[in-house]
Amino acid sequence: MNSALSKIVKKILYPAPKINSQKLKQKFKGQWVVITGASRGIGEALASRLINCGAKLILVARSEDKLKALYFKALENNCEVKISITDLRNREQLNAFCEALRQQPDVKYVFCNAGKSIHRKIMDSIDRMHDFDRTMDLNFKALTSIGLAVLPNLQKNHGKIIYTSSVSCLYPAAPKWSAYHSSKCAANIWCQTVDNELKTQGVRVQIAYMPLVHTQMSDVTEIYRKMPAYSAEEAADILLKLSISDKRCYKPWWAWLTEVPAFCLSPIVRKIYNLIK
Ligand SMILES: NC(=O)c1ccc[n+]([C@@H]2O[C@H](COP(=O)([O-])OP(=O)(O)OC[C@H]3O[C@@H](n4cnc5c(N)ncnc54)[C@H](OP(=O)(O)O)[C@@H]3O)[C@@H](O)[C@H]2O)c1
Repeated sequence: MNSALSKIVKKILYPAPKINSQKLKQKFKGQWVVITGASRGIGEALASRLINCGAKLILVARSEDKLKALYFKALENNCEVKISITDLRNREQLNAFCEALRQQPDVKYVFCNAGKSIHRKIMDSIDRMHDFDRTMDLNFKALTSIGLAVLPNLQKNHGKIIYTSSVSCLYPAAPKWSAYHSSKCAANIWCQTVDNELKTQGVRVQIAYMPLVHTQMSDVTEIYRKMPAYSAEEAADILLKLSISDKRCYKPWWAWLTEVPAFCLSPIVRKIYNLIK
């Protein structure tokens, strides 16, 4: 796609989120916020934005150097900050992190953002059950473990979980994404169920059905690298805008229009998938 056309497509399909910085500061200043997957991509952009808002942060990921850089940036901005070098796929480490969260009674916002994506044909996955373990462990089980650990405190604090899902979960299942989509859709169901159960008790679980974002995760696939998409900073603003609203979820404007027709026309959508696979 030439660059002029790409800019027009970006403007139409990925309009920059408008966010009220003053309102953001009012909401987050002095509040304890957990961000999983804070070391790069959307999570790192989110952490930087919240440091500027004066939030108190608990940042978790595996990359110690990246988390330490954010730690010092937060201290420079007079923000309280804790970092946890945790492999959320490792059950012992996950349990230890969840225990630490239980000891954090004033936590208010939990951005469940850490994720692992795998793009592979099912016939290339025959000997790769570990692909399904990796995606389920991080994208689903870590989210639910962290959720269970924080819910009692969120209930006391009228807090929120904000989950970074994928817009692709809103459409008929696409080829090559069996591990990633299964785990993201399982997480959506968990979030929707908990939101239904706890909304009247003061806890919200909000889902961002995120479209393409240029990060390390998406840019490993050449075709995505060249497509118009949100930046990590814009995606962070989408999450923040959702978190200060009362909405159940975020979807791009075009997903509201195309989600239901795509399911009604799923035989045709599947034929298109087969043509481009
Ligand atoms: N990029 C997109 O186009 C897109 C679209 C829709 C939804 N999403 C979702 O957005 C979220 C963030 O993705 P991103 O694009 O920012 O990806 P990314 O740049 O690859 O970042 C992923 C983050 O997750 C952390 N992580 C991965 N494995 C982990 C583990 N075992 N334990 C702890 N942390 C782990 C990584 O940190 P370490 O490696 O340091 O552990 C990193 O901070 C994901 O949930 C993804 O599914 C992304």
